[in-house]
Amino acid sequence: MRIAISTGGGDAPGLNAVIRAAVMSALQRGWHVLGIKRGYMGLLGEDEVIPLTSDSVRGIAHLGGTILRTTNRGNPFAYPVKQADGSFVEVDRTDELMDNARNLGIEALITIGGDGSLAIAQKLFEKGMRVVGVPKTIDNDVSGTVTTFGFDTAVTTAMEAIDKLHTTAQSHDRVMVLEVMGRDSGFIALHSGVAGNAHAILIPEINWEIEKVCQHIMTRDAQGKKFAIVVVAEGARFEGEVGVMGASLPGQAVRVGGVADRVAKAIQACTGKECRSMVLGHLQRGGMPTGYDRLLATRFGGAATEAVANGKWGHMVALQTPHIVAIPIVEALREHKKVDQTHDLVRTARKIGISFGD
Ligand code: F6P
Repeated sequence: MRIAISTGGGDAPGLNAVIRAAVMSALQRGWHVLGIKRGYMGLLGEDEVIPLTSDSVRGIAHLGGTILRTTNRGNPFAYPVKQADGSFVEVDRTDELMDNARNLGIEALITIGGDGSLAIAQKLFEKGMRVVGVPKTIDNDVSGTVTTFGFDTAVTTAMEAIDKLHTTAQSHDRVMVLEVMGRDSGFIALHSGVAGNAHAILIPEINWEIEKVCQHIMTRDAQGKKFAIVVVAEGARFEGEVGVMGASLPGQAVRVGGVADRVAKAIQACTGKECRSMVLGHLQRGGMPTGYDRLLATRFGGAATEAVANGKWGHMVALQTPHIVAIPIVEALREHKKVDQTHDLVRTARKIGISFGD
């Protein structure tokens, strides 16, 4: 058996641990493993396809990033091709991709990615490729799995940032607004905000009003608590707007961000308190995976090889506590996983006085 592994979309701490576990468990079965560089680019002749041996994956489980590299611009069904006039048209290059895979003797593909990469995997499966998916996102917004590797690391990074903001906010009697990742779902904001003792948490799933956030801050102020920490998910909508968009390159999803600055300015205007904002950004995607993420990633990698052995094509591995299972990719793609407002963590946050601005 000759299998290939690819990593696509934004990176997440734990990718290397998945690669290592998938390679080691495949080698145990006597299979050959290839690594496709930069998402599907290696299969489009835009990057390399390399052999993966036990030497290639030695000592990588604790490293962030991905030894196979990644891209969020390589959708082979809508590949952006530059025209003579500088504009881009999207071209379907999947016939070429399938031919290249066949010529390399690839019998199955383990593809590690978020919703975008999993949607591509599903379409390749429908086109006849033998694909097994591994869900990956720091945002924790893929359905069908209790959580994804990378999320715990991102929450830990954000929580540590909130801890540090506390001391400076307190020293200056300031309001600090921290923007964390989560373009569609507020899991990172919710988990890090509760763990880090934020005073307000603004997420896309809960309609919030800036006046309510200001009231909460002024109530604290009247009680002698002169500082406050507000955590806002990058995808949290500002007062009924469709979202704060940033620039993106051809073939890339639209970018969100910048909401913290607007929230900070609005709070300063309505409370008169001095406010500062910061965007934690890609620090959340970098660095060593936590122990939890390494273990989950390792379990996913081993389960992906098992799914290949069992012919679970078009399936992805998932954590359905306490088991790792294989579910149809289409099930996971049905909807983005969202914070459930009735979840115990939301209710606990409210019980301990955290405002959601609603
Ligand atoms: O999907 C994960 C994520 O971290 C989002 O929260 C964020 O909007 C996006 O990636 C940013 O990705 P990039 O800067 O790589 O385009």
